[in-house]
Formats: sequence, structure tokens, C-alpha cells
Amino acid sequence: MTEAQFPGPAWQDFERDWQAFEQAHVWHPYAPMFGADAPYPVASAEGVRLKLEDGRELIDGMASWWSVIHGYNHPRLNQALSDQMQQMSHVMFGGLTHKPAAGLAARLIDLTPEPLKHVFFCDSGSVAAEVAIKMALQFWQAQARPEKHRLLTIRHGYHGDTFGAMAVCDPVSGMHHMFSAVLPKHLFAEAPTAKVDADWNESQIADFSRLIKTHAHEIAAVILEPIVQGAGGMRIYCPEFLRQVRGLCDAHDVLLICDEIATGFGRTGRMFACEHAGISPDVMCLGKALTGGVMSMAATLATSKVCEGIHADGKGVLMHGPTFMANPLACAVASASIDLLLESDWQKRVLAIESQLKDELIPCAALPQVADVRVIGAIGVVEMVEAVDVAEMQERFVDRGVWLRPFGKLVYIMPPYVIEPDELSQLTTAMCDMAKRR
Ligand SMILES: Cc1ncc(COP(=O)(O)O)c(C=O)c1O
Repeated sequence: MTEAQFPGPAWQDFERDWQAFEQAHVWHPYAPMFGADAPYPVASAEGVRLKLEDGRELIDGMASWWSVIHGYNHPRLNQALSDQMQQMSHVMFGGLTHKPAAGLAARLIDLTPEPLKHVFFCDSGSVAAEVAIKMALQFWQAQARPEKHRLLTIRHGYHGDTFGAMAVCDPVSGMHHMFSAVLPKHLFAEAPTAKVDADWNESQIADFSRLIKTHAHEIAAVILEPIVQGAGGMRIYCPEFLRQVRGLCDAHDVLLICDEIATGFGRTGRMFACEHAGISPDVMCLGKALTGGVMSMAATLATSKVCEGIHADGKGVLMHGPTFMANPLACAVASASIDLLLESDWQKRVLAIESQLKDELIPCAALPQVADVRVIGAIGVVEMVEAVDVAEMQERFVDRGVWLRPFGKLVYIMPPYVIEPDELSQLTTAMCDMAKRR
């Protein structure tokens, strides 16, 4: 578009200085419209490197919020998109269907633990969590038990930014407490502190157990992130907690929703984090790495028991239907991403990343300014004693040629699985040096 074709004042500002224009008019995540720190403009991305407009290259330790597991600009994923584009980029999913959706559903059903058998495609992780919650509510309504409409979760969780999802994020330390007056009131149990089964004792589950026993008559489902709690604090907890939660849900007639949006597709060293505990949920949310980070897509999977339960009202109509549901491009690239993952030696790679992260980050734990260091799979976290100055730290990271985005007290890394050991070392060295400087 040229100025002659589009002679509006905004366009003129854009042509004069697109970065200044963008900063004045476009919101960024969790940021003010005015006075936010200038974001770094990216021109392109390739493999594990982001290329900035000014020519600098950054090794990416964030995998674009944990989604880009195969690296950027992957030829296989690009090919899948371009092949699908020749057929159709999008058609509505109401009354129509297509092979890319069916093919992706088949892959997901085979990949996820038994007995998840039914797939709802949607467009983001938050919406996948909303759909999971709706499934649970509709399940109990169809059983003529509408009083079972509350959710039980654990503290420090994060499930997204939409209202249903916000209502099960940590109400105190989470980022949504400003909305608490308008959110439904759910139940929050203390999160476990034991990171490994060796540290397990019954006190870890006591609060959860008390809440589920006392409120089972009004609880539709438990929702939690299995093994790793992400944006609510980057916490790792022991598999035994999850096993006990599964047992308590069964004993008290409560559904279990596992939000694997951050943990799914190998991030913790298992294909899905609930495999660490050998359990399977009634409903599972997937997103982020589902498309290899190429497109926005998420999915909510349910067991036949859940679907049949929803059908007990005689209709079984699940009341959700986004415009871009099962977008064919997203389905095609998600299938290609899963195939790529399965053909790769992903587990070896993730375990190698885990062992390198342990070797290179754990020494930071000795620093007085570091509260904790934790590693699982391709996730490494350095928790500082004090909150960090994100903008300042980010500038230093960028000067060193690495991309990491800390939050609160947490300086963490979740790189693409294809990262090479020397690239990973550059990231961990930058993290440790930052920790030492503080
Ligand atoms: C566990 C979990 N659930 C849900 C979400 C929300 O996903 P989205 O940002 O795609 O809406 C996230 C995002 O960080 C997440 O980590």
C-alpha cells in the first residue's frame, strides 16, 4: 500500500517511523498503552535465532512463549502451510469438515494418554481452558446435578486471560487479582512444595484433600497444570501429588482437567506431563507447541465418559464454536509439527537439555541473591530473592545476543528443542552472570 492509495494520517505516521507509530497505537501483552518500554523490532527468525531490524541476532531462550519447539522458519512446517494454502486456508467448521482436522484429531488421540478420544479445536490456550470448564459444567448439568458448578484448583496456577480461565488462576499472587470482584468464586488448595516423590508426605495433599471432601457436592472439576506450573510461578511439583489428585477425583465424583498447554509435546521430558505420574485426565487442554509455534491453535480433548455424560440431557450440544475453529492451515501445520516431533529424537534432546541446564544453572543456587534453581526437561528456572527489573535485564541480555524475558523474581529459559549445546551455554552463562551481578 502506498501513501497515494491510503492517504490517512495514521498511514503517514506509519510511513514516517513505523516503530514510533506502533508504540503509540499498538498494545503489547501486559503493558500500558502509554509509556511502555520500547519493544525490540524483529525482522525475521531462523532456527533458534531472532534477527532484529538493526541487524543484531539473538539466541532465543523463550521459544516464543514456549511454543516454537522445532525452531523458526522450519522448511517442513512452511511446506505444510503452503501445501494446505493451495487447497484452502479456511472454511467454517459449522456444517462443514475437512481432512486436515480429522488427521490432526487422529494424531492427538493416538498421542495423548488413553482414554482421551474426542477433540474440540479452538484458537488459543485460554479458550481451550474455557471449553474444558464448559465441558465439566455441561457434564454435571446433564446429570441433573447443576449444583456441581464450582472448580477446585491449586494455588500458583495459570490457565489464561479470559474470564473463566482467570477465575482459576492464583487469586493472590496471580496477575488477575484486579478482576477478583467479578470472577466466579472457586476453591484454591495449597500447592504442593515437594518437587520430587522422595520429598512426599501426606501433608502435601492435606489441604486439597480437605477441600475436595468438604465441597465434592458442589465441585464439577479439578483443573490444574500437571507437574509444572508455568506463568503462575514456574513451579515444579512431584508426581505423587498428581496421582493422589486423580484418586481423590475418582473417589469424590469430580472430573479432572489437566492443562497441558505449557507442558505438552515433550517440554518436561515426557510427551505429556501427566505421564510422569502415570495418570490420565478426563479432559486435557493443549496449545502453544501444538502447531510448533507457527499458528494460534489449541485443543480440548475429552474421554467418551465425559462426552456421553454431556449427552445425558438428550441433546449433548457443547455450547462453543469459534469462527476459526479447526482452521485448516493450523490443522495442517500442527499435524506436520507432531510428525516432525515423532520422527526426531526429541526425548534424547530434551533430556540432554535438562542435564546441561542442571550442570550450568544449579551452581547459581549458591549465590545469596538466588532463592532457588529448578530444572525439568527443557525448562530451567533461576528464582531470585528480589523481583528483577525486566527492562534493564532484558537490555543486558540483548547486548549479549540472547533473548530471555524474566518476570517477577523469575529468570527462566524454555528454548526450542533444536538448540545446540554451545547456544544453550550462551543463554545459561548470561543467566548466571545476571544473577551474580545483582
Ligand atoms: C498452562 C497454560 N494454560 C493456558 C494458557 C493460555 O494460553 P494462551 O496464551 O494461548 O491463551 C497458558 C499460557 O501461557 C498456559 O501456560
